[in-house]
Amino acid sequence: TGMFTYDPGFTSTASCESALTYIDGDEGVLLHRGYPIGQLAEHSSFMEVSYLLLNGELPSADELSKFETTITRHTMLHEQLATFYRGFRRDAHPMAIMCGVVGALSAFYHDSTDISDPTHRTISSHRLIAKMPTIAAMAYKYSVGQPFLYPDNSLSYTGNFLRMTFGVPAEPYVVNPVVEKALDRIFILHADHEQNASTSTVRLAGSSGANPFACIAAGIACLWGPAHGGANEAALNMLHEIGTPDKIPHYIERAKDKNDPFRLMGFGHRVYKNYDPRATVMQKTVREVFEALKVTDPVFEVALRLEEMALNDDYFIEKKLFPNVDFYSGVILSAIGFPTTMFTALFALARTVGWVAQWNEMISDPGQKIGRPRQLYTGPTQRDYVPLDKR
Ligand code: CMC
Repeated sequence: TGMFTYDPGFTSTASCESALTYIDGDEGVLLHRGYPIGQLAEHSSFMEVSYLLLNGELPSADELSKFETTITRHTMLHEQLATFYRGFRRDAHPMAIMCGVVGALSAFYHDSTDISDPTHRTISSHRLIAKMPTIAAMAYKYSVGQPFLYPDNSLSYTGNFLRMTFGVPAEPYVVNPVVEKALDRIFILHADHEQNASTSTVRLAGSSGANPFACIAAGIACLWGPAHGGANEAALNMLHEIGTPDKIPHYIERAKDKNDPFRLMGFGHRVYKNYDPRATVMQKTVREVFEALKVTDPVFEVALRLEEMALNDDYFIEKKLFPNVDFYSGVILSAIGFPTTMFTALFALARTVGWVAQWNEMISDPGQKIGRPRQLYTGPTQRDYVPLDKR
């Protein structure tokens, strides 16, 4: 049993080489292809960051416009897939629908199944990035009983998603530019995050040569958990449960109590032992959206107070627990009008570019092998079968 390194949770195992994303968790640094996340969030767009992740360099104006046109070409879903939705209960969680529908794409795009061909891989990648907003918006529409809206390719990637989600056929939908910008920024903040659980899942699934749609469906399944992408939904639910600032100390005590499974959702990270740089941008964006929409939400005050109290508490200081990307995102998404059940679906939508970029990187790696961890066996040693009447 001493033959393998025992590393549960892969806390010290590098599973691959990657040129996409760099994280320095002690310093709170996140770079995509070398560019700091703060600069990308401030100056770039989700389409531009997607191009950067996929191609390694920022696009020229011409390259960006061509890329946007290419993505737009794939925004529609096969009409047959609308029927697929109708098999779900109306109260199905959007992530349940996303797992199913994205996996089902495998059954529709037989023309791009040869993953050894880079052209095919590119087409599949573009399809996935383009169709995710349509798929997520349809999951929402289905849950509220409104008709599905077809994509409108005259809008931006994010504007189109907002319209497909909140528009209705009866009247024109006007995209609020501040909301569009804020949501686009949220997508940038979620685009990639090196070898997190869902990305590792996509790579592991892809390492066997499985088709990309199935691999992304696997990533979506993994993302759903509350320790990962599901934390954005759990964090907002928690803030609502806390309700008022005077209740915060009680929840902080619960989070510190080892006999209580409660954790502060949206707090702590495997890699960041400092402030998550995405949470910084997120907190700023809350204020911008509130101002633009002329709304406030008492839950934001709870979040700010909770952060302040946790960051001054010895337990959180000692364990280096800081707010992560999921702590403030829910406050913005709910101000925009998304129900909490859609939060993780939005995370999946944005992370798709990271997943496909990482999958492509893996398949193009000449040293690529099927992922096959070993184990430390703890079961019985060999023994003889005992007939039923002797047991
Ligand atoms: N509240 C209270 N205590 C915590 C928390 C928290 N949110 N997070 C970690 N701890 C404690 C934990 O109990 C442990 O204490 P001890 O060493 O005494 O046993 C210590 O801090 C280290 O935690 P861990 O669980 O061993 O660390 P990990 O790297 O395995 O887990 C994590 C990382 C993100 C799963 C965890 O911090 C957590 O469950 N956070 C809440 C869920 C969350 O916000 N997830 C989103 C992650 S960020 C982006 C994303 O993937 O969506």
